[in-house]
Amino acid sequence: MKERIVGQAISIEVAVDNVFAWYRDAGVDEALFDCPLDRFEAAEIAKTNAPPVSVAPGVEAPDVPLQRGGSPRSLPHTMPTRVPIVDVAAMDIASAAVDLAGLRESLAVFEGCPLKQTAKNLVFGEGNPNASVMFIGEAPGADEDREGRPFVGVSGRLLDRMMASIGLDRDLAYITNILPWRPPGNREPTPAEVTACLPFIQKHIQLVAPSVLVLVGGTAAKTLLTRKEGIMRLRGRWLEYKPAETVDSIPALATFHPAFLLRSPAQKSNAWRDFLMIKKKRET
Ligand code: URA
Repeated sequence: MKERIVGQAISIEVAVDNVFAWYRDAGVDEALFDCPLDRFEAAEIAKTNAPPVSVAPGVEAPDVPLQRGGSPRSLPHTMPTRVPIVDVAAMDIASAAVDLAGLRESLAVFEGCPLKQTAKNLVFGEGNPNASVMFIGEAPGADEDREGRPFVGVSGRLLDRMMASIGLDRDLAYITNILPWRPPGNREPTPAEVTACLPFIQKHIQLVAPSVLVLVGGTAAKTLLTRKEGIMRLRGRWLEYKPAETVDSIPALATFHPAFLLRSPAQKSNAWRDFLMIKKKRET
C-alpha cells in the first residue's frame, strides 16, 4: 500500500513537472493572479458591457485591464472588486513619515499590498527632492524592478528625452510612481492595489511639495485627479490635485504614458504640446 502511494506521489510530481514544462514552452513564465481569468470573456465585456467575468467558483474576479501604459483601449473596470475608499492602516503608517527617507522606510515594512511579494525591489522615487516639477507614473516595469529605480527602461528613456526637450532632467525634477512595486507581467494595477498604496503617494507629494504635477498616463491621472475619464479626455489641460479640503491644490497636467507613445507614435505631437504647457508654466 505504502509503495503504491509513493508511486502515485511520484507520478503526480512527474505530471506537475510536465505541466510546468508545457507552460514554459508556451511562454508562460509568470503568475499574474491568484485565480484563473477568462480573457476571451473579458474581451467580450470590453465590447458589450456584459456581466462580470467568471473565475473559479467562490473566487472574486480581479479587476484587470489588459494593457499597460494608459492606453485608451484598456479594458474598462467593469469587473467586481471590493475596494475600500482608503486603506486606514496605510494612512496611519504613511502619515507618520516626516521626510522622504522615513517614507521609504515605512513602505519597506508595509505589508498591505500583495505586489510586494512578487516584486524584486521597492521602487521609491528619485530626482531632486526640492524640485518644483514632480512626474508620477503608474508602476515599475521589469527594468525598474530589477534596478529599484523609476523609469529606467525603454519608456523611461523616452521620458528622459521628453523632459530634456523642455530643459528638465533628474537633477531638476522628481520622478516616482503611483505604485512602488511592479505588477507581475507588467499588467495594469488593480484598483485594490492602487487603493492600498494611495496614502503613500499622497504623502510623497506632500513631502516633495512641487508647484506642478505631471501625471504620466491614465492610472496616475485618474487616481490623483479622482476622475473617471480616460487619459484622452484628461490630458492637455491644467487640472487640480486636491489632497485635502484644508490644503492648497497643486496644478496638475495629465499626459500620455511613454509606453503608450511607443505603441502610438502618432500621439507624440499631442504629448509635445503637453510638455510645452509644462515649460510655459515653469517660466511664469
Ligand atoms: N512605467 C511606469 O509607469 N513607471 C516606471 O517607473 C516605468 C514604467
